[in-house]
Amino acid sequence: MKKNIYLIGFMGTGKSTVGRLLADRLGMEFCDTDAMVEKRAGKTITEIFEDLDEDAFRVMETEILKEITGKGNLVVSTGGGIVVTKGNMEIMRSAGKLITLMASPEQIFERIKDDRGRPLLNVDSPLDEIKRLIYDRAPFYINTDYIVETTELSPEDAAEEIIRFVENA
Ligand code: S3P
Repeated sequence: MKKNIYLIGFMGTGKSTVGRLLADRLGMEFCDTDAMVEKRAGKTITEIFEDLDEDAFRVMETEILKEITGKGNLVVSTGGGIVVTKGNMEIMRSAGKLITLMASPEQIFERIKDDRGRPLLNVDSPLDEIKRLIYDRAPFYINTDYIVETTELSPEDAAEEIIRFVENA
């Protein structure tokens, strides 16, 4: 079975946009764990956080991850916090390559500031919260097969860089 490619990284680093391009260019199937959780719950992520809570979201996220990991030939765009749930890094590693998309906190803030769909950043100082969460998650984000710094890259160039990596790996 052909291995999967898991795109991980903080919100606003371009995982979904780059993931679609990658899947297209590599002839793989694209899937997005956030979109799959929303579909299964019949609620948006914001509604899940409001009506249930973050823990409930994390349980659903891991369920979806386990299900798709039984398939192959997928480019998977993951939610930025998937790495913090114990066991998820191992699940992904067992089924494919892990690629981190990074960007500066300032650039992330610029990209997501008008988006109400990210409940964790619905706080008084979103830029500080971005920095805090990246700091907490950095040990996971740096522990992958490849890291792409997307602050000044277009999605097309980020996809090209990842293709060069997977074709030589
Ligand atoms: C989250 C990131 C979001 C989504 C949820 C929680 C996080 O996904 O899963 O809002 O904890 O960083 P994106 O990274 O696709 O925005």
